[in-house]
Amino acid sequence: MKTMIAPSILSADFSKMGEEIKRMELAGADIIHCDVMDGIFVPNITFGIKMVADIRKITSLPLDVHLMIVQPEKYVERFADAGADYITIHVEATEKLNETLSLIRKKACKCGAVISPDTPVSALSGCLELCDMALLMSVYPGFGGQKFIEKSLDRMKELSALAKIENPDVLLEIDGGVNLDNISAIKQAGAQIIVAGNTVFSATDPKAVMQELRAK
Ligand code: DX5
Ligand code: ZN
Repeated sequence: MKTMIAPSILSADFSKMGEEIKRMELAGADIIHCDVMDGIFVPNITFGIKMVADIRKITSLPLDVHLMIVQPEKYVERFADAGADYITIHVEATEKLNETLSLIRKKACKCGAVISPDTPVSALSGCLELCDMALLMSVYPGFGGQKFIEKSLDRMKELSALAKIENPDVLLEIDGGVNLDNISAIKQAGAQIIVAGNTVFSATDPKAVMQELRAK
């Protein structure tokens, strides 16, 4: 499968969001990754439903909405109505994981479960068959520009093996600290969708960086 690049707009200049997304689109982004943070599940606050709805108006690229919020079950339907194509929820953030995944799918939106770095990969066992996507965090959620946690490579291999058994169609995504030095090992470990914030947004030539991320 072709590697898909999903620039994380957390690294964009929020005062120029429209232009920043166009810049990524022209550079060849496959997906736009939108990090929603509530200041409770993670120690940072970003944006919510209206931002996703407004971004929906200016791009036809798929929107991958990564919810770093507690009780995502309260909001997933509204994010789907705002135009999200994928909605991912953290297993640590809800007691209603399977129910919430089904709720997302009922809105004709693709769904996924996310694990933070300290959550065992086995926490995804049993829910992968309900998921279109599984997201492995390779930094602690909350901020862009952090260093890639090396043990994430083994964790991605473990997830890839689990997915082969429980749902071979699930898309495997990685998020945090991806750069031109570690991308090759990350892909070899099984990641198919690569979230990249700092690496693409800080580049003077994001197109070249995206091409290199795909080629390596
Ligand atoms: C972190 C976010 C990531 C982050 C990735 O909580 O979920 O999407 O923006 O940014 P980089 O690639 O800079 O680590
Ligand atoms: Zn993210």
